[in-house]
Order: sequence, then structure tokens, then C-alpha cells
Amino acid sequence: MYSRIAGTGSYLPEKILTNHDLEKMVDTSDEWIVGRSGIRERHIAADDELASDLAYQAATSAIANAGLGAGDIDLIIVATTTPDMVFPSTASILQAKLGIAGCPAFDVQAVCSGFVYAMSMANLFICAGQAKNVLIVGAEVYSRILDWTDRSTCVLFGDGAGSVVMTGSEEPGILATKLHSDGRYCDKLSVPGWVSGGKVTGSPFVQMDGGSVFKFAVGVFEEVAHEVLEMANMTVDDIDWFIPHQANIRIMDATVRKLKLPRERMIKTVERHANTSAASIPLALDESVSAGKIRRGDTLLLEGVGGGFTWGGVLLRY
Ligand code: UT7
Repeated sequence: MYSRIAGTGSYLPEKILTNHDLEKMVDTSDEWIVGRSGIRERHIAADDELASDLAYQAATSAIANAGLGAGDIDLIIVATTTPDMVFPSTASILQAKLGIAGCPAFDVQAVCSGFVYAMSMANLFICAGQAKNVLIVGAEVYSRILDWTDRSTCVLFGDGAGSVVMTGSEEPGILATKLHSDGRYCDKLSVPGWVSGGKVTGSPFVQMDGGSVFKFAVGVFEEVAHEVLEMANMTVDDIDWFIPHQANIRIMDATVRKLKLPRERMIKTVERHANTSAASIPLALDESVSAGKIRRGDTLLLEGVGGGFTWGGVLLRY
């Protein structure tokens, strides 16, 4: 038994915040943001929109595109760094919103690598015969954990959700997966606050050593690409579409240069979405599928990297 993608979906909140809007909020410029990151605008959730609301919109469209109903889903995995609450999991809340009950539901916390972690787990559940139709979602409301007076972080992130329904298949969809973490880098990218004694202790905002993240990301993006390609006995030439985590166009460009992969084969949404953490890969995937760019039979390489540091790759036939 193998697993494959049956359907994709995504959702972006209505409000768009441009670099020019940010120029009025912090000491920055459109030129700096575009030049250093490639980002021009990002979507921002409404005050009453939670990660589970974004997840619900993306999930319902992925389920419909898979030709299924919510009742066919037998496992829900939500990758998020910005859950609705400390507990229950955003996956359980999403389950209730979908009007289904009984199947397992849990969150994955691997920050910007969350979606490739979730997809690897979905694959394992299906291949082990433990689930037939798995709903995986990356959903983030980063706008809630940004210090909007800190120009070094607030210009880089956005809100959104992307979803995939994975299903059992006799032909391989997922060809190889590889996940990593190195907790020695925990302090390089974090929200170090915690809830204790009725209040938040420590900072509840994103803190980042941008340069360290940048260097690390380029190195592991190249490394994990070779790992999954080797596992599947394939080469860079076999990749039709490369969907890296959309954090910074310079990280993405440096990676394709190192891999000697033509830039046209890389999916780029960072300009319009900014960094949506666990949502960035499924958002880029769904946009490209909806646009008819990615077609059935294409070979895709998905790669995530983020806080932890965590990183990983999934090689698949769409
Ligand atoms: O999902 C993973 C999450 N994070 C990432 O992927 C981020 C990875 N890192 C990056 O994307 C880049 O390192 C950044 C975009 C964060 C920064 O780019 P950089 O080329 O590494 O710039 P820098 O850190 O060298 O900063 C250069 C200057 C600094 O000023 P001084 O000290 O040289 O005078 C900053 O204070 O740019 C200044 N700066 C800004 N200026 C205008 C920092 N943020 C801004 C800003 N607008 N928003």
C-alpha cells in the first residue's frame, strides 16, 4: 500500500498588508523588504479569525477536490505554530468544525517544517493500514505572534492555510521522505514565552537570528534534496517542480543554484504570501495545482526548514 495526494485546498484571509502599508508602521522601505526577502505583500487574518477557521476553509476545499465528504476522513493532522489555544489541539477544533467525530486528530509542532512532518506521518499511517483518507493542514496566524514594532521580523511573515487529502493507492505517490531536527539551534528562532500562573512569562513574540537561519536553511535544503532523491534512486533532473518553504526568495534562489535546478521549475509564492510558516508549502502547492501548472504524474520535491531547527523533504509523484 502506498499513499498519494487526492486533493488540495487553500485559504488566504481577505486583508492584504503591503510593504507600503508597513512603511507607515515601522522604519522600513519597500525597497529593503523586496531586496532582502522578495516579499511585496502578505495576508492578515481578521481579529476574530483563528488558525482553525483558516484551516477549515482550506480543508473543505481539499476534501471537495479529492471527491470526498468530511465523513470519509479517518485522520486529521494540523501543522501549526499558532494554535487557537494551549489545548485542545487545533486539529480537534477543526474536527468539530467539519462536523465529524471519532477519528484521531492531533497537531504537529515543527514550525515551518510542520507540513512536511505532517505529510510524512500521513504517509506512514496509510502505508501501515491505519488510515485510508488523511486530512493534513498547515494553518498559521503569525500576525498574532509578531511584535509590530520590530522591523527585523514583522515584515517577513503572513497568515494563511493550505491543505491536502492523502489517500491509499496501489501506485506510489509518496516516493521518499526524510525528517530532521537539531535542538542545539532552539534559540536561533523562537517565541520564548510560556503561559504560567495566569500570565505569559517571557516574550510572546517571534525572535530570530536572521543570518543564522538563512545560512542553515540553504545548507540543509541542498542536503535533504540529495537525501530523498538518493532514497528514490532519482536525480535532480527528475524533479518537475520544487516547492521549498517560502521564507525568502534569496534562500530559495541560492538553493536552486546549488542543486543546479532550473529556476523555472521552482514554485514561488513568497512575493504575495510572505512567510506563512507551516502553511507556505500547501498554499504554494494548491495555487499551482489550481492554475494547472502542476499536473497529475509530475514529480514534486517539497522542502521545509524552520525553528528547532527542524527540516525535511518529501519527494512525490502528484
Ligand atoms: O521560516 C524560517 C524563518 N526565517 C527565515 O527564513 C529568515 C531567514 N533570514 C532572512 O530572511 C534574512 O536574514 C533577513 C531578511 C531577516 C535579513 O536579511 P540580511 O541580508 O541578513 O540583512 P541583515 O540582517 O544583515 O540586516 C541588514 C540591516 C541591519 O542594519 P545595520 O545593522 O546593517 O545598520 C538591520 O538593522 O538591515 C536592517 N534592517 C532593516 N532595515 C529596513 C532589518 N530589518 C529591516 C527592515 N527595514 N525591515
